[in-house]
Amino acid sequence: MNEIVSTITHYVKQKLENEGSGHDWHHIERVVRHAEVIAKAEGANDFVCIVAALVHDLADDKIAPSEAEGLKEVERLLEDVNREEREHIIEIISSISFKGGNRPPVTTLEAQVVQDADRLDAIGAIGIARTFVYAGAKGDLIHDPSITIRDNMTPETYRSGQSTAINHFYEKLLHLKELMNTTKGKELAQHRHEFMEHFLNQFHDEWAGRK
Ligand code: ADP
Ligand code: NI
Repeated sequence: MNEIVSTITHYVKQKLENEGSGHDWHHIERVVRHAEVIAKAEGANDFVCIVAALVHDLADDKIAPSEAEGLKEVERLLEDVNREEREHIIEIISSISFKGGNRPPVTTLEAQVVQDADRLDAIGAIGIARTFVYAGAKGDLIHDPSITIRDNMTPETYRSGQSTAINHFYEKLLHLKELMNTTKGKELAQHRHEFMEHFLNQFHDEWAGRK
């Protein structure tokens, strides 16, 4: 492993090792692995993709005191990366990890790769596990049939205050397959998506006492 990558890996690992917000070190490790695979398939700059995946959650307001402070920390961490790549990495994490209205669109291939890598970790068996951990930590119910939205709405359309773990699949996770940027990302999302659909069918059958 390149020395810069190994220094950054060490830093992020120490910082997120005991993080319980769903942005723990193992999430980062998986996103880095996905990013490597997708970058290779798409011919993207793998150094930029790997480093951006490593630091992608450091500016998240669940981890940093503020997004701006998180970004400053990332800039310090990347001081040995050449300027062009450093600016690119900062741009990637600004465009993929910021919540809310004024997020810049994902434009470069490397940004698309890292966004796909992060989204892959939100779907499939891992995605299911993360959803229930998140909902549990928030105190949400597993399911409430009266608030589950089954329409094909975009994630932005409905950010209702009230949610459940199962609702999160309908408001976000089932849409991610369509939002994948890259061919490889789409391909990897397909199986995970089908697994979630299978899980949800079984869940509703059990809920209704059918199986
Ligand atoms: P990331 O920044 O890594 O994309 P988020 O911070 O949005 O992820 O969420 C972390 C994990 O928790 C993801 O797996 C996501 O799907 C899940 N999650 C986010 N919001 C909710 C929610 N309201 N209910 C259940 N799970 C959620
Ligand atoms: Ni993430």
